[in-house]
Amino acid sequence: MYWLGIDIGTGGSRALVVNEQGSVVAGFTAPHEEMKMERPLWAEQHPQDWWGAAQKAIAGVLTQAGVKGEEIAAVGLSGQMHGLVILDEGDNVIRPALIWCDQRSQPQVDSINQTVGKANVVAHTANPMLTGFTLPKLLWVRDNEPANFEKVRKVLLPKDYVRFMLTGVHSTEVSDASGTGLLDVVTRRWSKPMIERLKLDASILPEVNESADVAGTVTAAAAKATGLKEGTPVVGGAGDQAASGVGNGIVRPGVASCTIGTSGVVFAYLDRPQYDPAGRVHTFCHAVRGKWHVMGVTQGAGLSLQWFRNHFAPGADYDSLMAEAQTAPVLSHGLYWLPYLMGERTPHLDAIARGGWIGLTAKHGRAEMVRAIVEGVSYSLRDCLGVIESMGVEVKSVRASGGGANSLFWRQMLADIMTRGISTLENKEGSAYGAALLAMAGSGQGTVEEVCDRVVREADCLIPGVHEAAAYGRGYEVFTTLYPTLKPIYGLIHQ
Ligand code: XUL
Repeated sequence: MYWLGIDIGTGGSRALVVNEQGSVVAGFTAPHEEMKMERPLWAEQHPQDWWGAAQKAIAGVLTQAGVKGEEIAAVGLSGQMHGLVILDEGDNVIRPALIWCDQRSQPQVDSINQTVGKANVVAHTANPMLTGFTLPKLLWVRDNEPANFEKVRKVLLPKDYVRFMLTGVHSTEVSDASGTGLLDVVTRRWSKPMIERLKLDASILPEVNESADVAGTVTAAAAKATGLKEGTPVVGGAGDQAASGVGNGIVRPGVASCTIGTSGVVFAYLDRPQYDPAGRVHTFCHAVRGKWHVMGVTQGAGLSLQWFRNHFAPGADYDSLMAEAQTAPVLSHGLYWLPYLMGERTPHLDAIARGGWIGLTAKHGRAEMVRAIVEGVSYSLRDCLGVIESMGVEVKSVRASGGGANSLFWRQMLADIMTRGISTLENKEGSAYGAALLAMAGSGQGTVEEVCDRVVREADCLIPGVHEAAAYGRGYEVFTTLYPTLKPIYGLIHQ
């Protein structure tokens, strides 16, 4: 038998077929339309585009693997978190989704804090309210598009919309629901006080399951569209970061993961909910039954490089950009990149922070600019690790995954900047792989921990270089002074 994992990412949807040993038989990616940014810090995508890409990815991976629909024992879903998909009475998408990095909802965050009370928000949901979360996006629609809000009968997250198209079921699971701002992360249920205080209709929320539980089965129409067999079980799956945590085997204390996709995330396992008092990292439910995780998020990780390539090196591939970056020296001749292209979460929680280079001279060229981007994103990931460690969470080593981890150069830089071993796994697929492992766990192959123990294996580990680590230590000190210095200017720009 085989298992299918699908990740509905930002750049594309990726499907993987995995066999009983946990080896990837084939992978297929179908790209998404670029996110639409009508204004700075706004970001939208069409849910229908995700479903189109998911269908292509599923059909493509089955063909590539030479596997028939009836040989797939179960399907797992993973996806970009926090996005707002709203459906009307007929289950039609009402408007494009406001996605994870959309930052327009500060007025709604302020009004939630006022209505519910800032401390109560943390007490009810385990996290402060943030512009990136789903709830303030929903209230933005209420405040700015009342005609659309009137029509809302169901609110779904991105992967859960794809689940709806696959199974006809409106449901989510605890890890993704944690990022809505409406889940009581401690009890793993929707928060009644949040719903009541904000006068929301509870029926617009989907049912919430544990990640490895079967949530529905593939419908006849979806079977026809994808090549899957009607009746194939679809498990809850997970938000992309918890799924990546499972794919990276982060199901016990001690090892963290660092995933560099469009965003960048440092992720650690928790036996019980633990919080950063300043709320700089998220405390969310893990995709492991009855467990939690903490994660720090860099909004513009791979996005920084993608933005640079699109505007300054069109047509270049990432390997050639990385090769160019390596021709510049450590610290890029004193050039620093602030990756705040979509505001920042960890550690600044600042929706209006802006990106940019600091320290340009006439000596600098494209190589230094790209290297500075890779360094700046890595410093920001060190920020994430630092906050997690400040909570007393032990991180002995870090497993790297996501597109950025394909680069040996970047992984070595992470080892030097984080000053700890950076390992990679035999399988670097991250989220889509974790989704497939959750499908295995949901179809009788053991608990999530047992499945991970059986199939997740480290391939190599890079050790920090002494000289580089010392140089980057000095660089990090400079980097950490930049945001506080610039913060008042971001306020002026945003006025
Ligand atoms: C996590 C987050 C991003 C998105 C996109 O909180 O916002 O990682 O899930 O990948």
